[in-house]
Amino acid sequence: MIVAHRGASGEAPENTIPAFNLAWKQGADAIEGDFHLTKDGHVVCIHDANTKKVAGKNLVVKDTTLAELKKLDVGIKKGAAFKGTSIPTIGEVFETIPAEKKIYIEIKCGLEIISPLLREVSKSQLKKEQVVFICFDAKIIGAVKMEAPYFKAYWLSNVKQNQDGSFTPSLEDSLATLRKVKADGMSSSSSAVNDKFITKLQMTGFEHHVWTVNEIKVAQWFADQGTQSVTTDFPGRIKGALKAKAPN
Ligand code: G3P
Ligand code: CA
Repeated sequence: MIVAHRGASGEAPENTIPAFNLAWKQGADAIEGDFHLTKDGHVVCIHDANTKKVAGKNLVVKDTTLAELKKLDVGIKKGAAFKGTSIPTIGEVFETIPAEKKIYIEIKCGLEIISPLLREVSKSQLKKEQVVFICFDAKIIGAVKMEAPYFKAYWLSNVKQNQDGSFTPSLEDSLATLRKVKADGMSSSSSAVNDKFITKLQMTGFEHHVWTVNEIKVAQWFADQGTQSVTTDFPGRIKGALKAKAPN
């Protein structure tokens, strides 16, 4: 399964409607987006807690209203073709999702976003299987599973390999965290995990997902290990290459 990281963010401004639409056009199975809460309680799609990187002007999302955020142009930096693109609300992102395709919702702020997020999901036409929650903060994954156990939720972990070959966090610690918060799986960074790590995780009953993989060879390696999804900035390129290799 190919997940478009912040949309097709290699070719369109990240976390915007053009990036999500391009991902669908390129055949992505899912989109991934980053979400924060505005001052007036709206859920918006933006990676950082402020707007400096995407808009030039530095506004702190939690201290700014949706109306003020909507005035910013977050497309122009990626090219003239994207001039006038604004930060989308989660509702606007949901509207792009075709039937049977999925969204990975990454929670980038605190527990306060969970109720508004769940309200937005219920307001949408999406089926439960189309919505997945991801977060680096295991406590937030635990809270999502407590409130809404019928959604899949994966703990994001930046796994590092130490000089002696061991991992930080170790597989045992990772499994303990996953069990504690009732996560459905782990979504790991791509550079350190090896085949044993993935196999043990899956044999213990957890899914494995990976981000951010832009090289075909690396994506193919994870697919061969049985990793359930690969998140990439270039969904068209990766999907096309893996499809070409898949048996009929
Ligand atoms: O899919 C997980 C990945 O998006 C986490 O890293 O910084 O791109 O949000 P980041
Ligand atoms: Ca993300």
